[in-house]
Amino acid sequence: MIGIAGNQTLFGPIDPFEKRRTTEVTFKGKLNLPIHRWYRLTPSFSPKLATDIAIHFGLTPEDYVLDPFSGVGTVPLCMKYEGIPACSIELNPYLHFVSTVKTRSYSNLSGITNGFEEFISSVAVEAEGLEDQAKAYEYLAANVRYVPPIHRPERWWSPVNLAQLVAIRKLMLRDNRSGYESDLLRMGILGVLIPTSNAKHNHVSLTFADEPAPAMNVLGMLREKLDEISRDLEAVRDRPVSDVKVYAGNSRSVSRVLPDELKVSAVITSPPYPNRFSYARETRPHLFFFDFVAGAQEVGQLETEAIGGTWGAATSSLSKGVEPANDLVRGLISPYTKDINGSGELMASYVTKYFNNIYEHVQSIEQVCRDNARLAYVIGNSKFYGHPLPSDEILAGIFAHFGFVLEGISKMRRRQSKSGLYEAVVFMRRG
Ligand SMILES: C[S@@+](CC[C@H](N)C(=O)[O-])C[C@H]1O[C@@H](n2cnc3c(N)ncnc32)[C@H](O)[C@@H]1O
Repeated sequence: MIGIAGNQTLFGPIDPFEKRRTTEVTFKGKLNLPIHRWYRLTPSFSPKLATDIAIHFGLTPEDYVLDPFSGVGTVPLCMKYEGIPACSIELNPYLHFVSTVKTRSYSNLSGITNGFEEFISSVAVEAEGLEDQAKAYEYLAANVRYVPPIHRPERWWSPVNLAQLVAIRKLMLRDNRSGYESDLLRMGILGVLIPTSNAKHNHVSLTFADEPAPAMNVLGMLREKLDEISRDLEAVRDRPVSDVKVYAGNSRSVSRVLPDELKVSAVITSPPYPNRFSYARETRPHLFFFDFVAGAQEVGQLETEAIGGTWGAATSSLSKGVEPANDLVRGLISPYTKDINGSGELMASYVTKYFNNIYEHVQSIEQVCRDNARLAYVIGNSKFYGHPLPSDEILAGIFAHFGFVLEGISKMRRRQSKSGLYEAVVFMRRG
C-alpha cells in the first residue's frame, strides 16, 4: 500500500487511494463538473482520481503527462486546468472527438452562444409539428437520406424522437459554420442521442428497454445541453491553462502515434479492463450519427484493433484460437487461462489476446518514457466462469519485464460486494 494521505502540492490535500468512495473513482464523480459532464461514458474515471494521482506524483508545469487511453479526455482535461502539459491517445473516432472538443480553448463565447441560438431557431422551424406521430412518419419518409445510417434506426428511437433528430441532423449536415463552433454544436447534439433513445439508461452496457421511450421534446433537450456547454465554457473562462493535445491512434504502438521527440514524465491512464466491454458497440449511435465511421465494417475493424475488443468481427477472430505472443505472456497468464480454458476456449483466447495487446502497448510505451517516469494504471480484475483473473498483477508483471519498478498496487474499491471484483491503481516507476 502507498501512504499518501495528507500529501499536499499543487492541488490541495488528496485522499488515500485505498477504500475510496465511488465518486472518487468512477464516472459518477464528474456528473456535476463543468465540461467533464458533456458526455457520460460509464467506464470513465473520476477527475478527482486523475488529479489525486498527479499530486501523489508531485507533478508541476515542468512535467509532461500522457494518457494512452483517452476515453472522454478526463486526464488531459484535468491536467489542462492544473497547468500541466499533457496529451492523450484514443482509437475510437467518436471518443477522440469528445476528448478533443472538451480539451480545446475557446474564445468569443458570446458568438458561440448566439450561434447555438440561431441553430435552435432554425431547427424549431424545420421540426415544427413533428411531435405529431403521423407528421413524424411523413417527415421521415420525405427525409430518408438524412436518417442516421445505423442498422435499424427505428429500434434506437421512436418515430417522434427520430424525426426530430433527423431534422437536427439534416440542418447540421447542411450547416457551414466554422470548425470549433460546429464541433461544439455537434458535441451538444451527440449528448442527447442516448437520453432520447430506447436504450436502457443507467446501465454499463447498452441494451434496449422493453418499452420504447415516450415521445420527447428533443429540441428542448438539445437547448438545455447547449446551455450547459455555454455555461461551462463561461465557468472556466480566463482560467490559466497548459497545452494539451489529443492524438488519434492505436496505443498498441504509442511511439508511432506521438511525435518522435516527445518523452513523457508521467503516464496516468486506464486501459480497457478485460471484462468484454465493447467501446465500439456502446458508441454506435454516435459513430454513425455524424459519420465518424464509413460503415459497419469500420466499426468491426475498430473493435478488432482495440485492446479487449470482443464484439462481432473481433469474436470471430478469437474463435480461431489465440496463442500467447511470447513466453513472458504465456508464463504470466497460463495459471489462469488453464482454468478458464476448461470452461470455454473462446474466453481463454480473449484473455490471451488482451494480454498480447497489453504486451505490445508496454513495449511501445517504454520508448516514450523519460528515466524515472511515474506511471499509474487504473484497472479492474475480472472473473471468467468463476475463475479470478488478477489483471493488475499481470499488467505489473509485463511492465517489470521492461524494467519498470512496481511501487504498489492500491485496491480502490470493490465493484460488486462479495463478487471478488475490484478496481485498483498500479503505481510504477521507470527504473
Ligand atoms: C477505460 S477507457 C478510458 C476512460 C478514460 N480514463 C476516461 O476517464 O474517459 C479505455 C479507452 O481506451 C480506448 N482504447 C481501446 N483500445 C485502444 C487502443 N488500442 N489504442 C487507443 N485507445 C484504445 C477505448 O476506446 C476507451 O476509450
